Order: sequence, then C-alpha cells, then structure tokens
Amino acid sequence: MKWTSIAAVAAGLVGSAAAQAESEPYTDAETGIVFQQYPSADGIKFRVALPGTIEAGQPYDVILQIEAPKSIGWVGWAWAGQMTYNPLTVIWPNGDQVMHSSRMAFGYSTPSPYADATYQVLKGTGIKGDTLKFTALCKGCSSWTDFTGEPFTVDASQEARFAYAFSANPVATPSDNATTFTIHDGVGHWYHDLPGAKSASFADWVAKNTVGAAPNGTAPGTNGTTVFSAARPRGAAAPLRFMERVRRDLGADARNRNRN
Ligand code: HEM
Repeated sequence: MKWTSIAAVAAGLVGSAAAQAESEPYTDAETGIVFQQYPSADGIKFRVALPGTIEAGQPYDVILQIEAPKSIGWVGWAWAGQMTYNPLTVIWPNGDQVMHSSRMAFGYSTPSPYADATYQVLKGTGIKGDTLKFTALCKGCSSWTDFTGEPFTVDASQEARFAYAFSANPVATPSDNATTFTIHDGVGHWYHDLPGAKSASFADWVAKNTVGAAPNGTAPGTNGTTVFSAARPRGAAAPLRFMERVRRDLGADARNRNRN
C-alpha cells in the first residue's frame, strides 16, 4: 500500500489527522520562483507559489506552473480536487505555443469556459525540447462560488487536496481556447503543502517574470506564447448565473428521474 493510501486510511480512522502533503520545494531556474511541486506518477509536475501573507477566508492570487511532456494532448488542474464545480486550469500545446483555458465543469462532460479565473502568463511558458511548461499568475483559482452558491476559498494555512487529469489525445481545435476535447486517459489526486508555498518574494517574482506587458494582459508574450483569455466565444450565449445553472441541472436531473 502506498504511503498516501495509508495516510488516507489513518486520517479516516482518527478523523482529525492532518493529511500528508505530497509536494516538495522546487526552484524553477528559468524564473527563479521557488514553488511547492507535486511530481505526479504520470510525469506531469504541478507547482504553486503563494504570497507570504494570506488572510483567512480572503481570496488570494497564486503563481502556478505545469510541466509536461510536449507530446501531451491536454492537462487539467482542478483547484478543489474534483472535476465539477471548481476552477479548472486546462493547457495544451498548439505548435510551439502553450494554450491555456479557464474552465468549470457542471457535469461529467467537456468543461465550459469560466470567466471568473483569469491568467497572466509569465516567463517560463513555452515548449523547449520535449518539455512543455506553463507559468502564470492566476486570480480566481483559489476562490469561487461553490455548488451551494456560497463563496469558497482554498485554505492556505494547511495542505490542499488538488486533482489533475490528462489526455494523450489532442484537443479538437488547438488554436481555440474554447475548444472541445475528449475525456481524460487518467486522473489523480494529491495533497499540496500550501504553507510551504508561501513567500514574501511573491510580488517580486511576478514583476520579474512579467512578459509582453499590456494594460489588459492579453498581449502576445515575448517567448512565442500567445496569451489567450477565457473570453466567451463571439456569438455564444451569455453564461448562466451560477444558481440558474444549478437549478437548470437539478431540473434536468428531475426530468431524467421522471423518465425512469
Ligand atoms: C471532455 C472532457 C471531460 C469529460 C468527458 C470527463 C468525464 C469524466 C467522467 C465521466 C468522470 C467520472 C468517472 C467515474 O466516476 O468513474 C470524470 C472524473 C474526473 N474528471 Fe473528468 N472529464 C473531462 C474533463 C476533465 C478535466 C478538464 C478535468 C480537470 C482536472 C477533469 C477531472 C476529473 C477528475 C479529477 C475526476 C475524478 C472524479 C472527481 O473528482 O470528480 N475532467 N470525468
């Protein structure tokens, strides 16, 4: 039995036992940022750096970095460790560029574009050799409106349970950040050490690694990476408000139940 499984069982038994963080310190030579990284068994690395001071319950920015083989179809990071009702950071290669797309899933199907998490792509993003790397400042990855319509913030004073998913299949239209894609080949969950990810250098790291700065943050980066926002595709219907979506989903479930 893996140590993580043992820890999970133990935590289940005693109830209040703290989770065992599975991340470790990692310094990215390209940006100088010191992350806490989770090196997954699938060869994809998930890294986080946080501001030195975070007030309990208050939203905060994160610097995230994902490193994967460039042969990957797509990679997703789920900020509450589940597929649905939490921000998903999805990235994929598009030629020599790295695309990113902010999504949220309201069921087990292609997640929808999600406008409430925004990304400022930082230096340390691109494809070099066989490696794809995405580095960004995210506003809205650590807090959102949960399934019940209540505000939710990832507690940065302890380990957080995150999840990832990936596929070897390319997305349908790699140049379109609202593209569809098919189901994952694998998913995983892990506990990330958030207290260990905090640093007083956070703001300096963002400033030092800001590329292609433009007032709206959507200018092409200087490292061959075009920055795409999570904007709704032209002509698409306005997104439903959260509770309307929940009611609609529950309504659909009720209709389905009635049919059985
Ligand atoms: C076309 C896109 C996708 C489809 C069709 C899809 C479908 C599904 C389905 C059917 C399950 C349930 C499996 C089960 O219960 O046995 C699942 C689980 C899961 N998916 Fe996806 N998925 C998609 C994209 C994503 C993305 C982008 C992420 C981002 C991380 C993700 C993360 C997960 C996770 C973590 C699980 C485990 C169960 C959970 O925690 O909710 N999925 N997915």
